[in-house]
Amino acid sequence: MIYGLCYISKKSADLKKDDVQNIVLHSQKNNALNEITGVLIAYKSHFLQYIEGDSVEIYALYNKIKEDKRHLAVQLLQYSPIESRLFSGWSMAFKQLSKSTKVDLPKSEAECINGIEQVVSHKAFWKGVETIEVMSNLMKG
Ligand SMILES: Cc1cc2nc3c(=O)[nH]c(=O)nc-3n(C[C@H](O)[C@H](O)[C@H](O)COP(=O)(O)O)c2cc1C
Repeated sequence: MIYGLCYISKKSADLKKDDVQNIVLHSQKNNALNEITGVLIAYKSHFLQYIEGDSVEIYALYNKIKEDKRHLAVQLLQYSPIESRLFSGWSMAFKQLSKSTKVDLPKSEAECINGIEQVVSHKAFWKGVETIEVMSNLMKG
């Protein structure tokens, strides 16, 4: 059965741009081997990641990711069965949301930022899951 898993975390203080690139490249290779798809979103000091695939496979991956020193304060937002993949074709899509001002952003990117900020401030954890749905539509372009 296909499951979706979503978490939010905080980048480690000494994380470099290269580190993020390495994470994405390694994830793309590894995930393709295990039929895992998903997206990694970086915004300010946070990561929001969503992985989908075999329930056992993604939980095992999550347990590895959780221990990774390149981020901390990992909080699980979703681990549940899904009807179909949101990111089929993406072994690990990556999106950097970097604008601090939302004014010039397309509506959906601004919605993603808003969602992440609400999760970070503990106002609404489900916003993380909603953000992933918005992001999947954005990636379909
Ligand atoms: C934010 C973040 C996201 C990650 N996402 C993935 C991922 O989607 N797939 C993956 O294989 N590793 C991911 N990793 C790396 C894992 O924590 C771990 O280093 C890696 O899976 C080990 O790979 P190995 O089993 O080939 O040694 C991520 C790490 C971080 C910090």
